[in-house]
Amino acid sequence: MATSASTLRWLAACGSVVLAAAVRAEPLQSVLAPAGPQAAHLKDLWDVMLLVCTGVFVAVLVAVGIALWRAPRADSSQRASLPQELGPQRGARRSVLSAVVASTLLLLFLIVASVFTDRALARLSLHDALHIEVTANQWWWEARYDDAQASRMFNTANELHIPTGRPVVLTLRSNDVIHSFWVPALHGKKDLIPGRTSTLRLQADQAGTYRGQCAEFCGYQHTTMALLVMAEPPAQYEAWADHQRATAALSQEPQAARGRHIFMTTTCVMCHSIQGTDASARRGPDLTHVAQRQTLAAGALPNTPENLERWIRNPQHIKPGANMPPSDLPTDDLKALVAYLGSLQ
Ligand code: CUA
Repeated sequence: MATSASTLRWLAACGSVVLAAAVRAEPLQSVLAPAGPQAAHLKDLWDVMLLVCTGVFVAVLVAVGIALWRAPRADSSQRASLPQELGPQRGARRSVLSAVVASTLLLLFLIVASVFTDRALARLSLHDALHIEVTANQWWWEARYDDAQASRMFNTANELHIPTGRPVVLTLRSNDVIHSFWVPALHGKKDLIPGRTSTLRLQADQAGTYRGQCAEFCGYQHTTMALLVMAEPPAQYEAWADHQRATAALSQEPQAARGRHIFMTTTCVMCHSIQGTDASARRGPDLTHVAQRQTLAAGALPNTPENLERWIRNPQHIKPGANMPPSDLPTDDLKALVAYLGSLQ
């Protein structure tokens, strides 16, 4: 008895350590730590469901325990005659009936709670909302920040910045297969289906970096299809957005200038765009301010010059199946190219 109690305590301690680590992990990716109203509604629903289902689970275990306790001890030769000997048939029937009624009521309660959550999610005011079009690709995220003035629109990839305290409407599309947009700290999952447009309304009330992950199996690199959402105070967000609208300052460093020439005259330019240059292809991520991003290849690697070089040299080694082909540039040229991309602040 003492052993089982200490085992239980040990399990509970392990559970809370794992939970705390999951909640504290930076960047945050947890439904248990909502950073805005939409995720908070879902967390409330989760709490209600957890409570109800735990109650049901415990009740079932207690009922099984009581049944086992009361069951007549009989060896196999006597079992055939048991049904006739079971006395409290009527009592048993009543128990089963009340369990069925209780289950039905609890299920109805969960349906009502779910409907109320849905209504609460739909109530988010869209006044002064920020509109972002997010397009999923195998295996990265493209983002286009909308604006009534076309010249104020801009593109980025794999990292979204949003202002805190302001609603955001995401228009979601897919370019190839079904993906699912999921940033647990901000909202639930939403599928991106080729040929269809869906929307997701969210808001971050707490500044922070929230990790998202494609939540629908979409091929070989489904697991390396992550994105980061940086929620920032409005002034900081506006400064970031203004910076994104501008082209990156042209580096005067000779190696970066050589790298720029290499970029514009090799295969890079056939897939990527860099504002203010001739590169305007849309097959791969927009690289206008690539040096500012935290990760490469949709969360596959931290964004460092060494990793960028490794990535360009052989993307298939890091993310097999990705659409980016390996590069056979001489090492000097590759280093120059990395210097150029590193200058795109
Ligand atoms: Cu995209 Cu899984």
